[in-house]
Amino acid sequence: MTHKILMLAGDGIGPEIVGAARDVLLALQSRFGLAVEMEPGLMGGAGIDATGDPLPADTQRLAEAADAILLGAVGGPKWEKIAREQRPERGLLRLRSSLELFCNLRPAVLFPVLAAASTLKPEVVDGLDLMLVRELTGDIYFGKPRGIAVNAEGERYGFNTLVYTESEIRRIAHSAFRIARLRTRKLCSVDKANVLEATEFWREIVSDVGLEYPDVALSHMYVDNAAMQLVRAPKQFDVIVTTNLFGDILSDLASMLTGSIGMLPSASLNATSKGMFEPIHGSAPDIAGKDMANPLATILSVAMMLRYSLDEVAQATRIEQAVETVLATGFRTADIQAPGTQIIGTREMGRKVVEALR
Ligand code: IPM
Ligand code: MG
Repeated sequence: MTHKILMLAGDGIGPEIVGAARDVLLALQSRFGLAVEMEPGLMGGAGIDATGDPLPADTQRLAEAADAILLGAVGGPKWEKIAREQRPERGLLRLRSSLELFCNLRPAVLFPVLAAASTLKPEVVDGLDLMLVRELTGDIYFGKPRGIAVNAEGERYGFNTLVYTESEIRRIAHSAFRIARLRTRKLCSVDKANVLEATEFWREIVSDVGLEYPDVALSHMYVDNAAMQLVRAPKQFDVIVTTNLFGDILSDLASMLTGSIGMLPSASLNATSKGMFEPIHGSAPDIAGKDMANPLATILSVAMMLRYSLDEVAQATRIEQAVETVLATGFRTADIQAPGTQIIGTREMGRKVVEALR
């Protein structure tokens, strides 16, 4: 069976990093027999420029037909002034929502050779391997009503709605407990139950689902404390499950524990493990087109795709090992440079990974 992959390069550094990931897939195809078919699609600002829509109808169709989707990054200053509904980010949110990609896996794993790249002390992050499970299709991101309006006194105001249904909480909780079972059976659910009713409800439902997983140690933590604990002693966590907005914030935080946001892949899965895979970083317009971006998060996103959606675990391991080899040999992109290492560009980093595939 040939895997059909939709390649959405997007904006900014997107085309460069997705280009590197494409070369890795092509190498797996020609050298290791991976059966893939790649199809490009327009997304984000690129979609707006070509069709006026950040998620063109063609892309939506291709996404529905694909076995998996690889996304670079979307957004940039060029599109910040257009109507909110038509901004690049909305295309991404619509795709997540329409494909019901509710389960977002954001691993924060420290590659031992990158310990020095973290701003935290080596002993704090050494051996770090945590999995953040972020709910991705609910919360204040999608809740209605929302908008900017004028009140009865003539004053303008902005408003959003934090809402979670019981079924939304149940399905992400089940995903998180199942993932915890594959690891050290420790799950921490992060909320703001002391202030926000919607997340008090979150805590109640996660606890209830937990009764079905007596072998998993469930704990709860307020999000402010979780942010502090992630910086103070991140290794106390194994799997964290949290809401869409808190997960957005905590995953950026967790990424920096590992040295660079340029290293971290992510998976967004639906109930049948079909998914979209993307680096957690943005489109970095400041370095776009300069052959400077770190393609490793995108390349590692391909590994997640092979592992979680396409059932090609051996091929996934090839990629992960190749990345480790290249880093161990001392090659770095600028974001993860360290004394004694050699700085190379996006294309060269992609080539090194391709060479190291075994
Ligand atoms: C992320 C990004 C997105 C989000 C943006 C680009 C809409 O920050 O994937 O973390 O907020 O989910
Ligand atoms: Mg984010």
